[in-house]
Amino acid sequence: MTIESCTYVIFGATGNLARLKLMPGFYHLEMENKLQETTRIVAIGRRPWDRTKWLSEVRTMLEEKFGDKLDEAVFARFSARLHYHRGNLDDEQCYRELAAGLNDDAAQFPKNMAFYLAIGPDDFGNVIESLSKVELLSQEYGWRRVVIEKPFGYDLESAQALQKRLERYLSEEQIYRIDHYLGKGMVQNVLVFRFANIMLEPLWNRNYIDHIQITHAEEMGISTRGGYYDTAGAMRDMLQSHLLQLLTLVAMEPPISMDAEALRDEKVKVLKSIRPIPKSAVHAHAFRGQYAKGSIKGQKVNGYLEEDNIPPDSTTETYAAMKLMIDNWRWRGVPFYLRTGKRMAAGQSSISICFRHPPLQFFQGTHVSCMNPNWVILGIQPEECIRIEMIVKDAGLEMRTHTASLDTDFRQPDQRHVDAYEDLLLDVIQGDRSLFLRFDEVEAAWKIVDPILQTWATERDYIHTYPAGSWGPPESSRLFEKEDQFWRSSLMPECAP
Ligand code: BG6
Repeated sequence: MTIESCTYVIFGATGNLARLKLMPGFYHLEMENKLQETTRIVAIGRRPWDRTKWLSEVRTMLEEKFGDKLDEAVFARFSARLHYHRGNLDDEQCYRELAAGLNDDAAQFPKNMAFYLAIGPDDFGNVIESLSKVELLSQEYGWRRVVIEKPFGYDLESAQALQKRLERYLSEEQIYRIDHYLGKGMVQNVLVFRFANIMLEPLWNRNYIDHIQITHAEEMGISTRGGYYDTAGAMRDMLQSHLLQLLTLVAMEPPISMDAEALRDEKVKVLKSIRPIPKSAVHAHAFRGQYAKGSIKGQKVNGYLEEDNIPPDSTTETYAAMKLMIDNWRWRGVPFYLRTGKRMAAGQSSISICFRHPPLQFFQGTHVSCMNPNWVILGIQPEECIRIEMIVKDAGLEMRTHTASLDTDFRQPDQRHVDAYEDLLLDVIQGDRSLFLRFDEVEAAWKIVDPILQTWATERDYIHTYPAGSWGPPESSRLFEKEDQFWRSSLMPECAP
């Protein structure tokens, strides 16, 4: 795919996302020579800064991230593309001046433009409207693309309302709804693992798979994001978006090609095949909890209610789990268990596929305390790895067995970790939407979680708690269909507790 020259305009450039992900992502693209020489990056911020001050801010951001690994030659090249435009998002003048600056200095700013909205969801609609008013979304002289951060809406209704508003000014091809999980190396590897290998496909269905678990656990709490997090909670923040996306990749049918529409068609089919959860059955399918004080790596940490900007009686969930059934030919009867939590025992994201037992268990009763099923574990982070667990015979004369694992790490120790955002920022320039969400995906995902959120909203008087540093409330195991199913919390072979 061609990498054209463009002007990348970042709204919210002085915020957390830009500091931690976007500017380091662009810097790496510079380092890898992925940006055309004439590409420009324009930051929009409220603070009264000029270009010199912005360059020194960017230097500080990058130094915080890379320390003395910051390459001065790369930084010099990078800073030549950086501009700062001061303005208030609510003020029309900000957009008029931006348009005048970009249009008048046509030699400096390429006509292809990407607008990255790294701002609060309440501002998405207004910013798009204002950009349209000053004709910055018109594609007469070059392409115009808009990157929208999550959350896309607060529930189904608000997502549809936002979509209607965007549709007035943008075509679907111009909208890049980002889910940064899709930019992670291992997540893309799920497709390669499934569709570049013939061995797995015959087993990848209800005949051989007992259940699938998708876990995203964090040691981190909510840090300074209390204001946002308390209105979102774990279900909106992680499950509705990132974890459902992972589920679609694991469960989808082979697409007719790897192009954006073919991939997204298959993902939507999965979401639409998920059995709706009626409000009366929410408790059998979903579970929520909130962290209380505890300790992480030996350090005492606050409970959620003691965090900044959290009301003392909040019942917002910091842990959420759900059981989903996919009613299609491949997956009927196979439960998918999804869970996520803040302040958990370890920071870890993985997809764990548990296979059924063989029809006869000849070797049960040898010294192993339980006969483990086969597992395939796709580790997303901290390590990108694949583990396949099988039963093998111990060396020696006795007929004893144990679980052995075949492990693959993807990254060589000296290989640089490529951040998801880096990949996605480049995809926008290349016009590749395969790792971005189409609106029907977002809509289908909201339809799945809406009944759960609505039920929880009526139950604001009680929430289970778990000590920070644990694996969440043990009561969440009530979601499991069978006695021998349990949360798989480590990469080590485990037996049912
Ligand atoms: C974000 C959520 O989308 O994803 C955060 O808003 C969460 O709450 C983060 O911590 C997790 O992403 P990653 O890439 O750190 O696993």
